[in-house]
Amino acid sequence: MGYRNLEFPDDFLWGSAASAHQTEGGNHNSWSEWEKIPGKIKDGSNADIACDHYNRYKDDFDLAKELGHQIHRFSIEWSRIEPNQGRWNDSELGHYESVIKTLLERNIKPMMTLHHFANPIWFRDMDAWLNPESPELFGKYARKAAEVFSKYNLIWNTINEPMVVATLGHLFGEFPPGYKDFNKTITATMNMLKAHGQAAMNIREVYDEKGLEQPLIAPVLSVSYFMPANADNKEDVELANYLDNLYNQEWIRGAVTGIIPDLDGNGERYTPLENSVDFIGLNYYSRQVVSSELDYLAGEMAPRNPNLERCEGLDWEVYPQGYYPIIKSYWDNYRKPIFLTENGIGTLDDMLKQRYIVSHLQQVYRAIEDKVDIRGYLVWSLTDNFEWTQGYSSHFGLVEIDYKTQERHSRNSAFMYRDIIRNNGLTEELQQRILSNWR
Ligand code: FCB
Repeated sequence: MGYRNLEFPDDFLWGSAASAHQTEGGNHNSWSEWEKIPGKIKDGSNADIACDHYNRYKDDFDLAKELGHQIHRFSIEWSRIEPNQGRWNDSELGHYESVIKTLLERNIKPMMTLHHFANPIWFRDMDAWLNPESPELFGKYARKAAEVFSKYNLIWNTINEPMVVATLGHLFGEFPPGYKDFNKTITATMNMLKAHGQAAMNIREVYDEKGLEQPLIAPVLSVSYFMPANADNKEDVELANYLDNLYNQEWIRGAVTGIIPDLDGNGERYTPLENSVDFIGLNYYSRQVVSSELDYLAGEMAPRNPNLERCEGLDWEVYPQGYYPIIKSYWDNYRKPIFLTENGIGTLDDMLKQRYIVSHLQQVYRAIEDKVDIRGYLVWSLTDNFEWTQGYSSHFGLVEIDYKTQERHSRNSAFMYRDIIRNNGLTEELQQRILSNWR
């Protein structure tokens, strides 16, 4: 197959993403307690030490700089900042100020997420996202964050992957709080939608009060490309469309339109959501093949295609072809700028990681050629880290970590990605070198 040079827009931002609980170590939150329950984490590990990023962030950002990164997405840990309800920990706020300054000093744009899966214990104890007060409580935390961090040039993410929090935590029982209950799933989903609105509204108020120019604010979505097992089977096609709507579209449609979706179709207007989405963050990893013969909502999965490579442990199929249509659907539906806030693969096969990145970037380029306003691409993740239910058995890092010594070692994929950044895109030669002889 012939390749051509794919040059990305001049102001396109390249970088990587990570989250607090997966990297920092030393957290006490809903996840640190969940990890201690036998059987919850595949390799029996926990994030007590993780990557020790809480102490090593300066070195880690030196590495990101060396590897050419221009943007870094990280999360701040709510449980550190508000260890008890309404009590703010100034020294932890100071810590994150230093994290932000460290990035800025290295000329790396900070993209800061307020919530990436973990909850403070007090919030967990009040049933977290099932509590009708949860949106206001999250909004107060966002306000505090804005009061402290608005002086820096930041991009804001409110909640990471609300549909993952809702479904893995309330439908499939794999994440805390571990429920398997459809109604609870919907309640949590809607409260996170409101919480996003409260957060965006409060952040904007603080910027206005201080006379600062409004920042970019966005939620970050987990998106999956739903495909019918049999494209000629009407029921399979309908199911794929139904799940696409439920998982990929409903929440963000609510955030963009300001109307909380209702199961009976009569949505209620929620004013804090107005003006809450400056761009959409998309995390894409794989596709889901769905068959009407299986009960998807009960966790039944179609068998994997043996011809496709997969992500370690999570068993996600490598399916770059799904990236373009998914990106395009968000652009067509909402006309908001897009940041590709996570994409990557857990694997020790570094050639596979390189193929994964290059083949996905080819799809990104197709969308750019179609005039989709894509602002940046962030690999998940800068370093290996604690991969939730998989523990340390899934290796998403551009940089490998030896957990015994905490030594960092850049993989070849990190250098390949550095070359992509230097070229601001994919040269013909690089595509040829990485993708030839694949499949
Ligand atoms: C996403 C999460 C991120 C990481 C990747 C592999 O769903 O946002 O924390 O676990 O998957």
